[in-house]
Amino acid sequence: MDAVARAAALRAEIARHDHAYYVLDAPTVPDAEYDRLFRELQALETAHPELRTADSPTQRVGGRPLSQFAPVRHRVPMLSIRTETDTEASGADAFDARVRRELGLADADARVEYAAELKFDGLAINLRYEDGVLVQAATRGDGETGEDVTQNIRTVRAIPLRLKGTAPAVLEVRGEVYMRRDDFEQLNARQLAAGEKTFVNPRNAAAGSIRQLDPAVAAKRPLSFFAYGLGETIGWPVPATHAEVLDALQAHGFPVCEHRAVLSGAAGLADFHARIAALRDALPFDIDGVVYKVNSLALQQQLGFVTREPRWAVAHKYPAQEAVTLLRDIEVQVGRTGALTPVARLEPVFVGGVTVTNATLHNQDEIDRKDVRIGDWVIVRRAGDVIPEVVAPVPERRAGELPRFDLLARFPRCPVCGSHVVRGMDEAVARCTGGLFCPAQRKQALLHFAGRRAMDIDGLGEKLVDQLVDAAIVKTPVDIYRLGILALANLERMGEKSAQNLLAAIEKSRHTTLARFIFALGIRNVGEATARDLARHFGKLDALLAADEAALQQVPDVGPIVAKSIVEFLGEPHNREVIEQLRAAGVSWQEGEPKDAVSGRLAGRTLVLTGTLPTLSREEAKAMIEGQGGKVAGSVSKKTDYVVAGEEAGSKLAKAQELGITILDEPGLMALLGN
Ligand code: IVH
Repeated sequence: MDAVARAAALRAEIARHDHAYYVLDAPTVPDAEYDRLFRELQALETAHPELRTADSPTQRVGGRPLSQFAPVRHRVPMLSIRTETDTEASGADAFDARVRRELGLADADARVEYAAELKFDGLAINLRYEDGVLVQAATRGDGETGEDVTQNIRTVRAIPLRLKGTAPAVLEVRGEVYMRRDDFEQLNARQLAAGEKTFVNPRNAAAGSIRQLDPAVAAKRPLSFFAYGLGETIGWPVPATHAEVLDALQAHGFPVCEHRAVLSGAAGLADFHARIAALRDALPFDIDGVVYKVNSLALQQQLGFVTREPRWAVAHKYPAQEAVTLLRDIEVQVGRTGALTPVARLEPVFVGGVTVTNATLHNQDEIDRKDVRIGDWVIVRRAGDVIPEVVAPVPERRAGELPRFDLLARFPRCPVCGSHVVRGMDEAVARCTGGLFCPAQRKQALLHFAGRRAMDIDGLGEKLVDQLVDAAIVKTPVDIYRLGILALANLERMGEKSAQNLLAAIEKSRHTTLARFIFALGIRNVGEATARDLARHFGKLDALLAADEAALQQVPDVGPIVAKSIVEFLGEPHNREVIEQLRAAGVSWQEGEPKDAVSGRLAGRTLVLTGTLPTLSREEAKAMIEGQGGKVAGSVSKKTDYVVAGEEAGSKLAKAQELGITILDEPGLMALLGN
């Protein structure tokens, strides 16, 4: 195959894969294979520059930065669309009534057929194909003249550089360039990581990307496209209806949104409006309404347009999901885990179909990133059922200097319980340290306390904890041990029998282990394994209570973060109080002897020394063994783990041999000690 034919074959194959991936959302080749084809085409074009055609996929990126966009006069004006702001079904009735009146239809006449589709929230673009090849892309501008954004549009992989099927002399395709919500989130995350400015919403991100003068930057923006109409056509068989136009565009390789329908009469339109409203939040991109178009192109012609708006189309809106209002104050909400969430107190504003007075600000980092300050005018967003959020301030409307908001300075103490608020080194959230005491964390703390791996109180589950806390019978864990049969039996769905069972379970839990007790406290970053390490290391609760961060870090696997969590928790007087009350209420466990920090190597092992070791004295050997948590016994028994034998070992050695116990010499002991 010669180079010309090979290049053509590669272009066609890459275009097929692009279409499969970006339009059909059904990839046909692995990325590596795609890259290989792409590189082969690039190499061919480098060797033979004359093979570099306008529709080559290598030409999607590569243009130079522009100093400005050239104006483009639209051959067919790009009309705008009338919006129906009545977001109720009556909005559809009004449009249908107007169309019928303009067409001179009587009530008895047949219903008008409409094509309904989504109103995408992006940027309108006219794509001009000559002999099947994309030659120019332009923005709408004022409808007469737009801007030439061909270089940037080429970077949008969902837009074909060459039409599939038979190529007409001229075909202008109109549609919307937009950004999917997930792509938008990822783009913003990348912008943030690169220290660049983030975008307020997907529409701004899409429009900003297309208006980029440097196509290399535009190429990195994840843009998508939906076709929804026509501009100039020459030599293209125009179908009779709008629905057929969309099907034809799809056949030419354009992405056309699947949520479209042909409907009849006002009822059909209202139905579509309601159906899409229910779908709105689940769509991967933003829409701000639906669009109804008279389906017959002949009727469209007959209806014509007034000023720049066709009489045959309307955009039927949904309640706006964004609005601007005044940020009056920032307060905090304490969650079940003690996390403090900053909440914006807003001048009430109607958005997303309801009046919003509060919106989340997520955390301090988000406030810093958006630079939101009390007294700012802010954009509030409420999409569907999600919690309203403050998207960004409107900096032009900031009246003078406003202080930055510092959550820890404003709320050094938990607004719910008064305990200290802390923020971990690498953590985004600030937290209340009053775990056992804080009413906001009560239910969570109690459930954890009673859990199977903690105090193991059988039967004390979520429903019961809810009831007990809501009835103010139980506030802190110690109240559990003060429960009486009467209080319990009076609860809903709780008979005397189950009350008795629960009391028995509570009674049983009084006798536990130190490790379980420590775990039950629900100290942040202290899981079951850490609780066990702490219990083994300190042996006694009082030793743990007295430990500072340095002492805590002596425990195997306890680093600075865990040590800090423990000190913060135990530093909170309320938590101490609950611990003391629990002890006073009879919660108890077997206390052990504290174990050395670096122990563990010989923890739980028993050794017997016999004979004279070459270098170590008996006292030295004993100290080293105990230093590693081992025990030194005077006589050999089945419980002996090792016998360390030196010169002139006597009966102990014989006994060890008899029992099959491992015998070590001094180097063997040193190895065991890790020396
Ligand atoms: S048709 C004859 N269809 O809405 C009407 N426009 O003012 C020409 N838009 O910015 C437009 N989705 O980009 C049409 N399915 C859709 C649309 C749509 C969004 C935008 C369009 C323009 C505005 C119309």
